[in-house]
Amino acid sequence: MHHLSLIAFVAVLFGIAIIRLYTLFRKINGPEKVPGPTLIPYLGRIHDLPINFMWLKFYEWAKKYSGLNGFYLTEILGTSILVVTDEAVAEELMVKRAKYNSDRPAIPSIFDSKSTDGSMEYLPLMGKNQYWARQRRLTHAYLTEASYSSYSGLMYHEAKRWLVRLIESPDDFQFSLEDMASKVMCQLTWDDPDLSEDCVAHEMEADDVFRGYYLTKGTRILPLDWAFLRNPTKYPDPDNFRPERWLEPGWPTYQEPLTQFPTIKGMTSFGWGQRTCLGQTLTQDELIVACGALSWCFNLKPKKDLATGLDLPVPLDRSNSLLIIKPDPFQMMFEPRSEGRKQQALRLWAESEARDQNERFEFAKQATLAFEKLRTET
Ligand code: HEM
Repeated sequence: MHHLSLIAFVAVLFGIAIIRLYTLFRKINGPEKVPGPTLIPYLGRIHDLPINFMWLKFYEWAKKYSGLNGFYLTEILGTSILVVTDEAVAEELMVKRAKYNSDRPAIPSIFDSKSTDGSMEYLPLMGKNQYWARQRRLTHAYLTEASYSSYSGLMYHEAKRWLVRLIESPDDFQFSLEDMASKVMCQLTWDDPDLSEDCVAHEMEADDVFRGYYLTKGTRILPLDWAFLRNPTKYPDPDNFRPERWLEPGWPTYQEPLTQFPTIKGMTSFGWGQRTCLGQTLTQDELIVACGALSWCFNLKPKKDLATGLDLPVPLDRSNSLLIIKPDPFQMMFEPRSEGRKQQALRLWAESEARDQNERFEFAKQATLAFEKLRTET
């Protein structure tokens, strides 16, 4: 009898749990909810969200659930995520309503973005507090056009070094490219850590009603660049490399004057509103210097398979899945445009390196002299 009542008790508990789960399921998937994939109580939607190429799943859901809204809602372990798939909606939420939507999610494994003793923190991930505001003002002043004169010399120097490395060890091009970019970055600012997609989401600072839907404080706004850049109205034939979309009238993205456009500044990939990327000028300048130098010196070609003589394929769908996405290793050929160009590149680097060493030597000499003077005076 005792045994039976225990079974009955467990059965009742189990029944209550099922009813609770069912009620919760109805509630979180009810008609007033922002459309999105069906959510499981407590878990949200993680069972079919892959760690790798997560954006492809987000895009698949976009096609199913975004509809005319340009956004949908999903949830991961209690965190609501508003995936924005239309540029106009991203603009409205993160530029027009920037005042309420510019916090950052806390990422406990890295540090507490909400803390206010944030002097040691990394600006892109800082919560929206006075330390972030001060740091952003400082960084902005440092990285805007005004500083171009001070960093262009450095970029030219590093681009020249890179050309010589490409001449001497062309197969190491992925390493030498990254090394060139990080040499510029480290000397000017700091290096970017590898982070997950979620890190640069914007976090809502208050409850809000948006397009008739109720969104709670803490909801993360995730602009889905993969979807913006595949919008066929703005980017016809989105999956193919069509540089003419920037260079020939008739394409939606074409803009004049060509002395000023195309520009990467203000593209969706650099984020939104109060949190927009502060490295846009630097990135653009570096791209122009590095790509200019590269195409001045080399013909870029597919590498040949030595056995078959055929072009080695360059896979376009292989990459890591971190915030800073880079392609998996692949092979290609850097063929100097002519012997003359090659020799000129070698000479330019030799001159730049000698100048640099000279400057360093002079600097060290002056510093030693100043130090000696100070020592004898005291
Ligand atoms: C291709 C290169 C780059 C891309 C695609 C990129 C993209 C981004 C994106 C998407 C954000 C978040 C924007 C948002 O939340 O709305 C961001 C933030 C930021 N980026 Fe970049 N970035 C690049 C290069 C750089 C460089 C070279 C620097 C520094 C020299 C830089 C400095 C920053 C800073 C400081 C923030 C944080 C702004 C804040 O949270 O207030 N970025 N970037």
